[in-house]
Amino acid sequence: MPQPISAPLLHSLAERFGSPLWVYDAAVIRQRIAALKAFDTVRFAQKACSNIHILRLMREQGVKVDSVSRGEILRALAAGYQAGDDEIVFTADLLDRETLSTVIEHRVPVNAGSIDMLRQLGTSSKGHKVWLRINPGFGHGHSNKTNTGGEHSKHGIWHTALGEALAVIKAQGLQLVGLHMHIGSGVDYGHLSQVCGAMVDLVRQTLAAGHDLQAISAGGGLSIPYQEGGAVIDTAHYFGLWDAARKEAEALLGHKLHLEIEPGRFLVAESGVLLTEVRATKNAGNNHFVLVDAGFNELMRPAMYGAFHAMTLLPRDGSRRASRPTVVAGPLCESGDVFTQEDGGVVVPRELMAAEVGDLLVIHDTGAYGASMSSNYNSRPLIAEVLVDGTDAGSARLIRRRQTVEELLALEA
Ligand code: LLP
Repeated sequence: MPQPISAPLLHSLAERFGSPLWVYDAAVIRQRIAALKAFDTVRFAQKACSNIHILRLMREQGVKVDSVSRGEILRALAAGYQAGDDEIVFTADLLDRETLSTVIEHRVPVNAGSIDMLRQLGTSSKGHKVWLRINPGFGHGHSNKTNTGGEHSKHGIWHTALGEALAVIKAQGLQLVGLHMHIGSGVDYGHLSQVCGAMVDLVRQTLAAGHDLQAISAGGGLSIPYQEGGAVIDTAHYFGLWDAARKEAEALLGHKLHLEIEPGRFLVAESGVLLTEVRATKNAGNNHFVLVDAGFNELMRPAMYGAFHAMTLLPRDGSRRASRPTVVAGPLCESGDVFTQEDGGVVVPRELMAAEVGDLLVIHDTGAYGASMSSNYNSRPLIAEVLVDGTDAGSARLIRRRQTVEELLALEA
């Protein structure tokens, strides 16, 4: 297990690059990739963290990439991923016109979540490689907002429409590569067994409809322990379940089948922290507030899902102080700009070391869906990102500079 980035190094990074700041640790990312090496392909769901330098690191480690927008395809290309083979796959439920041209131009295989996508692609790009993303009729997520299966989800081709999708593939002269399922973020083993069973069933139906397959994808959704004592994924067990499903499918097909996995969070969440500076403290009735210079425009997860992120205070003077129940909030002009809250916006004070203005607060496990979900709300420029690859200050490099307000205004000039 890589050691967490030391407090002195975090202090020096805040001094050098300013606050707030995203900091990633390359060693953690490499370690998480290694934990999944049993899979034939690890495909990074870059929506979790799409910085080009993180994508380069992934590619150097043999990880392929999933893109969900034209922007993410161009990012993958900029990071050195090769077009025209399966290094990049485009996954979506619709193809806007610009993205349709881009996938055709770069011959990016399309993982289709709707039959209309197949029709539109087939009309202009015969022989294009496609995957089918199937909604098996059930899903599971850490929040309703991250459940991507079942009849309330817009994602994937409904399982009973598989036959129609296969008929369109045949009629349009598309080339079927594989079947894909992703039922949500934060999948548990019970649902996983159900997904594996559903996958074998779909392979059987595909074969019966006269189609062959080269690959299946397990999707992503592997959770990480955000809270102390939270479940840690046993990757060998995870692989074992999928490998058994793959073998059943191979027996049906009579040949080998490639097994992919498509995690986002698992590969990067624990590599990242959000560094933020305490700028004010105050009391309101029974609540003690610590106000920091990062807001939900940087880290949206607590406001969006009531997500828990562990926090550590790094006192400016290195002292140790007693802890107290603390509500941590940001600078935005909106009441929901609180990092210690539950789903539904209920503020939950957290036991934290007493903070003083000028201290640093480290918000942990923010490498996934942190920077990539940031916005310019309240006309706040996007903050900088730093990648650390070692233990000393010299091993840190700026991988995205801080945006300026002038750049924001220029768009409207
Ligand atoms: N594959 C597909 C098709 C997906 O839709 C997603 C996530 C993934 C893979 C990666 O899922 P992961 O392994 O990261 O759980 N913003 C939310 C997560 C939304 C995930 C959307 N799709 C959060 O902060 O928890």
